[in-house]
Amino acid sequence: MILPIIAYGDPVLRKVGVEIDKEYANLTQLIEDMRETMVNAKGIGLAAPQIGKAIRLFIVDTSPFEKDEELNENERTFLASFKRVFINAKILKEEGDEWAFNEGCLSIPDINEDVFREEKITIEYLDENFEKHTEVLEGLAARVVQHEYDHIEGILFTDKISSLKKRLIKKRLENISKGKINPSYRMKFPLLKRK
Ligand code: NI
Repeated sequence: MILPIIAYGDPVLRKVGVEIDKEYANLTQLIEDMRETMVNAKGIGLAAPQIGKAIRLFIVDTSPFEKDEELNENERTFLASFKRVFINAKILKEEGDEWAFNEGCLSIPDINEDVFREEKITIEYLDENFEKHTEVLEGLAARVVQHEYDHIEGILFTDKISSLKKRLIKKRLENISKGKINPSYRMKFPLLKRK
């Protein structure tokens, strides 16, 4: 089932997610619904707060990068099969030089800004079967995970841009909260006034 994606301005996007366990109600279905919702919106990652649940769960699927001509062969091959479910994730280490990448977010349609993040992370998490993994990720894979991880910490990429750029997009962010946009997928707007 495709779920509405929560738009910028909703307080659920600002909550620090709580850990979950195997007994969490309908978890398998929830993950499946999140996957369907993400693919429908042409996203490469989706975090539970974005569908209204402040829990430590996010998914990534970077396979759309498979056809990105700007990436080298090795990176393309890795990203083609980088599909993961992250439960109760914890970033243990972030290292390397900070690099800029033009990020976007399904909760903030049509806004893209360069965000600086460190290039390499070590992350510990449980997969959908509650098996524990520790993984070292670099480049775009790390980037996508860092963005989604921020969501379960209540952080959005627009928090990480300069105050000048924040001022420049302020009005557009307000319009997103009010539903004054036309996204290509289903959304829920916190400040939409119903007629
Ligand atoms: Ni996002």
